[in-house]
Amino acid sequence: MTLRHWSIIGIIATAILAVMLPMYALAEAERMDSAQAQLLQESIAQGEITYAENCVICHGVSGEGISAYPSLNNDGVRQMDYTDLVKVIERGRYGTAMAAWAVAEGGVLNKMQIDQLVAVIQHGDWANTAATVDKLGLAPPTVITVEISDETLAELAALPHGEVISAALPVFAANCAGCHGAQGEGTAIAPALNDPALRDKRTDAELNRTITNGVAGTLMAGWANALPAVDINNLVGLIRYFDEIPAGAIPQPELPPIASTNAEVIAAGANLFNIACAQCHGTEGQGTQMAPALNVQSFLTQTNDQAIKAIISKGVPNTRMPAWGGRLNDSQLNALVSFLRSWEPTAPAVAQPSVGTGGQGLGPPWLRGQ
Ligand code: HEC
Ligand code: HEC
Ligand code: HEC
Repeated sequence: MTLRHWSIIGIIATAILAVMLPMYALAEAERMDSAQAQLLQESIAQGEITYAENCVICHGVSGEGISAYPSLNNDGVRQMDYTDLVKVIERGRYGTAMAAWAVAEGGVLNKMQIDQLVAVIQHGDWANTAATVDKLGLAPPTVITVEISDETLAELAALPHGEVISAALPVFAANCAGCHGAQGEGTAIAPALNDPALRDKRTDAELNRTITNGVAGTLMAGWANALPAVDINNLVGLIRYFDEIPAGAIPQPELPPIASTNAEVIAAGANLFNIACAQCHGTEGQGTQMAPALNVQSFLTQTNDQAIKAIISKGVPNTRMPAWGGRLNDSQLNALVSFLRSWEPTAPAVAQPSVGTGGQGLGPPWLRGQ
């Protein structure tokens, strides 16, 4: 080859390189971009779990906010500065239910977990977060609201403290009943407010302070920003005068039923029961020495679907009854409720001493297996 040939090859090679190099650089940048994107997706996936375990109870399964707790799924929060978001989660907001979450501030989350939460808030898809919460069975109990008719309010207004009671009840029904119960009788998640002991123990000023500022580190939010002072004063009055409200004046809310009568759902529940529950509660739910009967009228008629689901999901502290919430998802919990509910029409009035299931504690050995 002549020198001229070489230089032509050189020119061609240079030309090829000139075309290839940027293409290579572009591919490399894309590869980096997709690595970044994958990292972000992994952060979001981890963050969703942290969110489900720590934040969902106040900010909701889709970041929609529950009762007085603010939503996180809005543009205002999404577009907050990265450092500001980190700071709120690390340090909390003093004097509100928003606690400091960073280990350095006495919380339970490390820097990486907080970064992942910020990724969920800024770049996540709340529908995916809701799906993760459901899969983990960590959806908070449905917050109920109560409707009080105008006629009822008019009747209550005629009571000695009727002015305060009838002004406070709609506020209570809309904001407090979901946690404290329609009659202030308390629920699994919040104490009774219609309790004479509470009235004796707390002055009006103390009750007012609790409602205004909340109780740090609990579900009890401060209502200073959500309710005008006059409403809070009336609520204190309502707590004082709860006993003056005639029985039956406040309607019991209709809880949406959970149990399905669909045969497939019940069969799925039966299957789960055999795997996870029968060893303690007996194959027919008749009870064993390990655990009480579930297949009895007294239990089934007195316990609504929500309560059964809450017991299965949260367990019974300090007993052998485990919390299944982390292991079973929402539809599995619902299937179990459906299966237990399917016993109700035929359940014995009183638990039958059981024989014949081969489990422990089922009477003397010679009676078993019959
Ligand atoms: C016990 C209830 C509660 C829990 C649990 C909770 N928060 Fe909050 N959060 C609040 C309240 C109340 C506020 C509003 C504080 C205020 O008034 O400024 C808030 C505010 C926030 C804000 C600021 C929103 C804004 O508009 O400025 C962010 C972000 C936030 N929370 C994230 C989280 C994350 C992430 C978790 C879980 C690690 C979490 N929160 C857990 C109650 C809670
Ligand atoms: C998201 C659930 C929730 C909502 C909604 C809620 N509370 Fe509470 N409340 C709680 C919890 C939990 C406690 C117990 C806090 C603690 O452990 O000290 C509590 C405590 C209280 C106390 C103190 C009781 C005592 O023994 O000292 C009062 C008073 C009270 N709430 C009033 C209200 C009023 C009024 C409203 C409506 C404006 C309301 N709460 C809404 C969950 C809630
Ligand atoms: C290791 C044994 C054990 C297992 C497994 C178990 N339970 Fe329980 N369960 C108990 C005990 C013990 C209690 C009674 C707790 C108490 O003293 O209040 C109980 C209570 C209950 C109650 C409330 C009964 C009542 O009368 O208040 C329900 C509902 C229940 N279990 C459902 C289930 C379901 C559904 C499963 C399976 C997903 C299950 N349990 C698995 C031991 C168990």
